Amino acid sequence: MSGHVQAAPIRTRSGASVATLGILGAGQAGATLARAAITAGYDIVIANSRRPETLHDLVRELGPRARAAWAADAAAAADFAFVAYPYAPDDRLPVEELAGKVVLDNNNYMAWRDGHFAAVDSGEKTVHELRQEQLPDSKLAKAFSHVQFHARSPIRAPSDALPGLVRLARPSGAPDRKALVVSSNAREAVELVTRFADDLGFDTVDNSPLSESWRSAAGTPMWRASVDGQTREELIRNLGRAERSSGLPVS
Ligand SMILES: NC(=O)c1ccc[n+]([C@@H]2O[C@H](COP(=O)([O-])OP(=O)(O)OC[C@H]3O[C@@H](n4cnc5c(N)ncnc54)[C@H](OP(=O)(O)O)[C@@H]3O)[C@@H](O)[C@H]2O)c1
Repeated sequence: MSGHVQAAPIRTRSGASVATLGILGAGQAGATLARAAITAGYDIVIANSRRPETLHDLVRELGPRARAAWAADAAAAADFAFVAYPYAPDDRLPVEELAGKVVLDNNNYMAWRDGHFAAVDSGEKTVHELRQEQLPDSKLAKAFSHVQFHARSPIRAPSDALPGLVRLARPSGAPDRKALVVSSNAREAVELVTRFADDLGFDTVDNSPLSESWRSAAGTPMWRASVDGQTREELIRNLGRAERSSGLPVS
């Protein structure tokens, strides 16, 4: 697949190597991101809500750059982490193990799935600000929230069988390269996501801070363009067209 670019491990501003991605959640999003990150040269440690042994088949498929762990151990081993399961107010995240680290959160607020959160429904906070509150010492970024981690439906061409994360990926500079949104309160997190997304085959648009992340919520103009993806210019335009009073979920 032409979209994948083999890349050197990314580096923090201080120059330290950031190569191990801890993935909490091994469902559609977590497993698909694991495959893409490994292809791009990262090591991954992946966890679900259960024992690491339950991920035996996935880790075997992912190969030697992957291992399974308890969620807290995956967080501890991570240079940066990806939380790949929906927000819930009673989530018990490995707060200490993730302290000081960039944590990507690709959750979308789906009230039909997760229930209603009053602070989000009222527009007081975004669901990503709530997640940041659960990880007060981490640098949270909303990222990879509007690219599909599953096949396109219906499948009309062979590439449609690939997850959107793989199908839409293109090398840097390709004329049809797509862009993904990132929102964070931490500049370091935006920079890391930008380099990581580039390694996976995408440009980024900075839609910070987290309080602005409602602009990329389900149902917004940019969301409607997410199956086929959108260039940076299209994504910037669509983010600007979002209206908070539309009655759509605001995450
Ligand atoms: N699927 C997509 O295409 C897509 C696209 C954009 C955004 N997203 C977002 O990605 C997130 C995940 O979606 P998904 O489709 O991948 O869901 P999923 O297939 O249901 O997978 C959820 C995974 O999270 C794990 N998990 C749940 N609670 C956990 C905990 N406390 N610690 C560690 N792991 C835990 C589950 O483990 P168990 O199996 O042990 O329960 C499962 O492996 C959602 O927030 C969704 O909005 C998904």
